[in-house]
Order: sequence, then structure tokens, then C-alpha cells
Amino acid sequence: MSLLAVVSENFSQILKKAFEGISVPEKMLVPMITVVNNPKHGDFQINNALPISRIISKQTAKLSDGHPLKSISNPDELAQYIIDSIDEEHDRLYATKTITRGFINIRVSGEFLSSFLRPILDLGVQPPKMKKQRVAVDFSSPNIAKCMHVGHLRSTVIGDSVCRLLEFLGHDVLRINHVGDWGTQFGMLIAHLREAFPDFLAQPPPIEDLQAFYKEAKKRFDDDKDFAKEAHETVVKLQAGNEDELKAWKLLCDISRLEFQRIYDILDVKLEEVGESFYNPMLPVITKDMEDRGIARIDDGALCIFVPSFKFPFMIRKRDGGYTYDTTDLAAFKHRSETEKADWLVYVTDMGQATHFQLLKGACRMAGWLKDEDAEEDKPSKKSKKMRKDGPTIPKFSHVGFGLVRGADGKKFRTRSGETVRLQDLLDEAVVRARKVLDENGRSERFDEEKLNHIAKCIGISAIKYADLSSYRVKDYIFSFDRMLALKGNTAVYLMYSYVRIASISRKLGVDIETIIKEHSSGAIKVTHESERHLLLHLARFQDIICHVVETLCPHHLAEYLYDMCGAFTTFYENCRVLVEEEDIKVSRLLICECCKRVMETGFHILGVQKLDEM
Ligand code: ARG
Repeated sequence: MSLLAVVSENFSQILKKAFEGISVPEKMLVPMITVVNNPKHGDFQINNALPISRIISKQTAKLSDGHPLKSISNPDELAQYIIDSIDEEHDRLYATKTITRGFINIRVSGEFLSSFLRPILDLGVQPPKMKKQRVAVDFSSPNIAKCMHVGHLRSTVIGDSVCRLLEFLGHDVLRINHVGDWGTQFGMLIAHLREAFPDFLAQPPPIEDLQAFYKEAKKRFDDDKDFAKEAHETVVKLQAGNEDELKAWKLLCDISRLEFQRIYDILDVKLEEVGESFYNPMLPVITKDMEDRGIARIDDGALCIFVPSFKFPFMIRKRDGGYTYDTTDLAAFKHRSETEKADWLVYVTDMGQATHFQLLKGACRMAGWLKDEDAEEDKPSKKSKKMRKDGPTIPKFSHVGFGLVRGADGKKFRTRSGETVRLQDLLDEAVVRARKVLDENGRSERFDEEKLNHIAKCIGISAIKYADLSSYRVKDYIFSFDRMLALKGNTAVYLMYSYVRIASISRKLGVDIETIIKEHSSGAIKVTHESERHLLLHLARFQDIICHVVETLCPHHLAEYLYDMCGAFTTFYENCRVLVEEEDIKVSRLLICECCKRVMETGFHILGVQKLDEM
């Protein structure tokens, strides 16, 4: 259980006992807890006394004279009464309890923290317990033959982190790459391929730069009427499943795929490609079903779903009979929820597509495939409504939107000559710059070439990922190599370096931490200094943060948590020497360092940041 859950559970028992035999509405006995970030006021605040005091006087009037509640007339007194009813077992867990305006401030005891952290040493960092779900995460999703741009980088990095988080929680995660591998652009691409490499079926064409090829094809298409006509005919043939056109299409997809894969390998991201073309066979069926059920209707020749309160419709068939991005997403939704049996569908794209996903959500709701947002999950009477005829529960839907990447000038991120930045170039540059930082900081004297390059690669790539993940995803963010590679501040480099320091402590002292863990059972962690307590409390909050990140799907909360932990560790380390005479204190501090190390490793893993043992 997470710390907040444990405290909440404790106070649930405490409150129940305190008001036994007195009729207080059930919901007022559910602990109302706020996390307090001000060390002066304690760690948590319990806010139940105030509302209870407002309604309780009629009840207490009836109590017999000796009852302690009888004489209570204000929230402060009621708060004190609650504190007084804490039994011995719970009392040990809370070091101080104070009252301000009816609020109970509590500070958890060192003993509590110590026992709470013990599992990190015995079992490793555990995820908070959650019901296992099957989650389909649609992310990265670049378009074949077009450029994979920084927007796709954001989607890849954020999506991967969301997947890592869900996997850590024990969910069954489908990492779906919904690549744009279908559409009219293939007409001109194939027509151009035929022209430029007439022998392409027998001899795979040496296309190095598919984007340049795309540009050439586009130019031909715009300038030459005959070519445009041929391109149109080619699309028709491709859509009809003509063998040669299909072969050419596959060939182009393969070239793109190789390029994408290179990027995924550098980023260490795993994806399974289920492109738009996969849903093609389902489109006629699904559109007909929507039309037959009266969910979609013809408007000006096109088949549309009019979602209430939206100005424009979700268009699932164009006037010319062609299908759209909308149609494919409708089919993909149905496939993921019904065939793949996903309980939760997540889409990671830029905020520019927010309306598209709201429309998709609305359309799915109209089709009866998605839960009505107003239908509260905890209303049991609606349960039957939540079940589909064929069994599975209706899934949850999340659009994880993100802002634009901007250059230092605040404008859309581009190269100096105004072109879209190629991702491969961007990643390469990050590594080169990371190497420069290492050289400038005298690392070339310490490590050999091979090691230096390895460290530079880890730092460069982690810096790019972390810069993205540490900013609030919904907002635009400014891409700056200088900032992301800074040694100070909330950067990957700072975190990675802090980790190296923490990890090196037991190594430098020459102790075997595993043996120490085995030899010192629970209770070995002791709080002797405020900075030590602060660090332990921070560690104990890890699962609370994880819960918060799953709720919001905002990885920056985790980044912030890790950054704060480095700060808390530094203060601890300045105040509490590890190498001290007293054996029990030394052991305790070594164990604390080990907890930090493990929590950081888990955090790094979820954010996709590399850990290094030296740098
Ligand atoms: N290919 C799209 C793009 O580049 C992203 C696809 C996102 N996923 C989806 N199911 N619509 O913008």
C-alpha cells in the first residue's frame, strides 16, 4: 500500500472507533487527508473534525453525562477528542499531533517510516497494488515516407514512459505504433518509383532518403498533369489490391520502417506496428453498421456522425466514397476493445488532435462502445449498463495530449535553413554535445575513448527524453541543448550524477550491502536528524507519486519527485555522515542510501533515463 493509503486506512479505523455508537454520516468518517508539504505543520492533515463538529451537537446532547463528547463545543475540542481516541498501536506511528483550526496535523514517526521502507530492502521497490488491466497505448505513430518530426519524438518519449509506468504496475500493455501507412500519397509515390526505378520489383531501389523522394514525387504531382492522372489511377489499383502496386507499397513501407527502427533503437523504445492499413478490411463493415443503426447519417454526400455540442462532424466516409483518418480510428477503437480486449485505451498525440479524439470518444459513446462519462462508476444500479452483451466491461479512454516543441526563438522548432529537423540528426547532435560537456569537465583524462562515447550516448539520449518528460506535457516546451545538458537544475545529467554519487557510497566503503540487509532485520533504519527524516518521508511517498502519475498520465510529477529526492539526499549527506563510529548508525545510513538508490533506479527506468555507475 502507498503511504497515503496506509495513513488513510489507519485514520479510517481511528475515526470509526472514536464515533462508535454515535450517528455520524458514513462519508464523514472517510478520512479527509491532505498531504502537507510544509515540514512545520507535519506530514498530513486530517480534516474530518470540522464537518463532524457542525452536525454532531444534537447527538451529543443525548449522551450520558460522563461521555467525553458531551462537553465538546468546537472543532478544536473535537479534533483533540479524535487524537485522544487513538489507540496505542496507532499512536506509535504518529510522532506529533497538533491542531490548527480544527485540522489535525500529524507527523509520522521514525519507527513508522523505518518499517514502511523495509520492503524496499527485502523485496525491491514495489508498485502500489492495482487491479491488473489490459491497456492499449497508441504512441509514436509516424507516417510512412514522411518525415518523423519532433512531435513524433514527443509522442515516442511520453508514450514509452506511460507504457513503462503501466508495466511497472503490472498491467498488460500493448505498445501500438499506429503508423500512417495508407492514403492517397501512395499513388504519386508508387508512380514516381516506377518512373525512377523501372526495375524496382526485381532490384530493390537504393533510396537513402525517402523524404527527398517524397518531395520529388510531390513536385512531379503538382507540376505534371499526366503524372497526377497516373498517380490517381495507381491509388485505385492499390486500393483494389493489385499485386504490383501492393509490392511497391510494401517496399516503400519497408524503407521507412528501417529509418524508424533506427530511431527506436537509439531511444531504446519497443513498439509493435499495427498501421492504418491493418484496419482497411474493417472499414466498409463498420461504416455500414453505423449507417444502419442510425448513428451516422449522410450529410452533403458524406457519411457523418454528429456528436452533440461539436460544430463539425466525425466524418467516416467522404463524398467520393473514400475513408478517412476518422474511419480508421473508429475501427481501431473497436478492434482494440473488442478483439484485443483492452480495458483502457490511451492515445499519445499532440494537443492539435484533441478535438479529433473528443469526437472519436463521442462517436464511440453514441455507438454504445464507451462508458457514459456521467455514469458514475460507483453507482451499482448502472452496472448492467456497463456490461456489453458479449461480456467485457466498457473500456476507459484517455487522450494524452502534448504541446509543441519550440526553438529558442519561441517559434516552431526548425533547422537554421527553416527545414523540419530530422530526428536522427537531433539525436546525433545530443550525443556529440554530451561528449563535449564530458571533455570540458575533464572526463577525457579519466575514461578511455570507448567509455567516453558510451557515457556521452547515455547522457545525450537521456537528456533529450528527460527534458521532454520533466516539463508539463500539455504546455509547449522550448528545445535547448544547453539547458538539457546543464549539470545543475532539473536535468537528466544532474539526476544521473546524483545517482552515481549515491551508488558509489557503499562501494567506496567496501561494504557488501546485500549482506548488511540480510544481517539487519527490520528496525535497523533509525532517524537521528531532521534531514534524515525528510529523506525517509520522501522515499516513503514514492508510491503516492506513482499513483498520481497514473491518474494524470503526467510523467513530470515523477521527474520532479526524483529531482527533489536528489536535493533531500544532498542535505542528508551534508548533515549525516555515513562513516561514523557507531555501527548501528552507519548501518542505518547505508540502508537509507540503498533505498534511495533503488527508488532512483525505478524512477529512471520509468522515465527511460539510463543509469550509469560512473560518469
Ligand atoms: N500518424 C498520426 C500523426 O502523425 C498520429 C496517429 C495517432 N494515432 C491515432 N490512432 N490516430 O499525426
